[in-house]
Amino acid sequence: MWQPDRSSKQPLYQQIAAYIEQRISYGEFPPGSLLPSERKFAEQINVNRSTVVQAYEELRASGMIESMVGSGTRVSKSRWGAAPKDMPDWLQYVDGGAAMHPHQSCLRLIRQELDSGRPLIDFASGELSPDLSPNEAIRQLLSEHALHEDLGYDHPQGYVPLRQALASYLKQYRGIRATESSILVTSGSHQSLYLITKRLLSPGDAVAIEDPSYYYSLPMFHTAGLRLFRLPVDEKGVCPEGILSLHREHQIRMIFVNPNYHNPTGRVLDPARRERLLEICGHLGIPIVEDDPFSLTSFTGNPPPSLKSNDAGSTVLYIGSLSKIVASGLRIGWMVAPQSVVSRLTDEKQQMDFGLSVLPQRIAAQLLASAHFEGHLLRLRKELSHKRNLLLDALHRELPGELSYTLPQGGLHLWCRMRRPVDDDRLLEEGLRRGVVFVPGSVYGSEPGYVRFTFARPQPGQIGRGIALFAEALRAAGR
Ligand SMILES: Cc1ncc(COP(=O)(O)O)c(C=O)c1O
Repeated sequence: MWQPDRSSKQPLYQQIAAYIEQRISYGEFPPGSLLPSERKFAEQINVNRSTVVQAYEELRASGMIESMVGSGTRVSKSRWGAAPKDMPDWLQYVDGGAAMHPHQSCLRLIRQELDSGRPLIDFASGELSPDLSPNEAIRQLLSEHALHEDLGYDHPQGYVPLRQALASYLKQYRGIRATESSILVTSGSHQSLYLITKRLLSPGDAVAIEDPSYYYSLPMFHTAGLRLFRLPVDEKGVCPEGILSLHREHQIRMIFVNPNYHNPTGRVLDPARRERLLEICGHLGIPIVEDDPFSLTSFTGNPPPSLKSNDAGSTVLYIGSLSKIVASGLRIGWMVAPQSVVSRLTDEKQQMDFGLSVLPQRIAAQLLASAHFEGHLLRLRKELSHKRNLLLDALHRELPGELSYTLPQGGLHLWCRMRRPVDDDRLLEEGLRRGVVFVPGSVYGSEPGYVRFTFARPQPGQIGRGIALFAEALRAAGR
């Protein structure tokens, strides 16, 4: 997000006016289009509202923009010459394309605040802090392996050496037997979820999901027109018995689960329930999508097994990712599925993006095959459990008896239940005002009164302060 240069001699309002004029002249805000409100824009770029008011005033005086009571500030049509009939009506396209469910406003607010560049203690971003990635190992691998000449299009199913490295990784770490032909490399595990949703399911299909569940999947499922049925997650993970009655009533077509260090609750599916889930779904012929990005964060170094490793048939579509154990920005994820499914989804992926960039795939292949990987996992587990402990200490100190939780033994998140639920929007607002951000539980579709803290994201030195600010916000929201 653009920010004015505070060290410049040019007044802030003039910089803002020049920036908006530039965007108008580049066609980013065509004539007639709506500009952000003064208040919202001021918040985004961290200036006083009066500074933006002054900038808009200047643009209005030169006739570039015009404001009408009740309909906001728009780029002037007359000043910029083009009549609406001379150009496409972009809003009509935006609104008229295939219907899409936007993300919740609460999530957009969190994103906007994090992008604004103002200092915030971040318990909201569900990823590692940058220092937890194997940066030195990646740097070394990049310098050791000069760029090959071959930077052409790669196979849409994924770079072959990466698929080979993944086949070994899956066997060694997840007990999964797969050849490189049954692995599809995707842009993070999110793209695997997207491809499954888009190509293996149809609008109106009934699917069962965990309650609560990974929040970015929810708008995607809604956009795909799926009917969602929730299976409660308790101390022992998701409860499989409900599938029987759901299937009788709604003909469940697929089940999405995140059995190990579940997002957001951090829980692990109990062994007896795993067996039962596989038994029920195998018997009814319902595919299970196992989303498994967190297992290797296990603080003890003994991750729970994958469902896929106990799948005697081919009930489980297995999805994994390097995002939570190496770096989310590499965008390396994968799916293990029957050959027919891999072929179909490879076609879809080719239509969509022509295959993933070969550079991150090469880095990932080399890292997985190198001696660095094991050492990295050891350090990661140690740092993550240290951060989890710092978070627990801070919660006991700042909010004794106010929050309850299941102690996570892996993953990146702590899921807390508040003794006295407060309004989620208000709590987030009070937190942001004080410089701390977290995810209110209602975002995950669960009942109010919960909050998710991602301990992996802030620096250890920020955790205590962040929780002190959260405690203030909770008190203020409860008043
Ligand atoms: C359970 C779960 N699945 C999938 C994803 C998507 O991750 P990525 O696409 O980065 O692999 C996330 C990210 O937070 C997640 O928590």
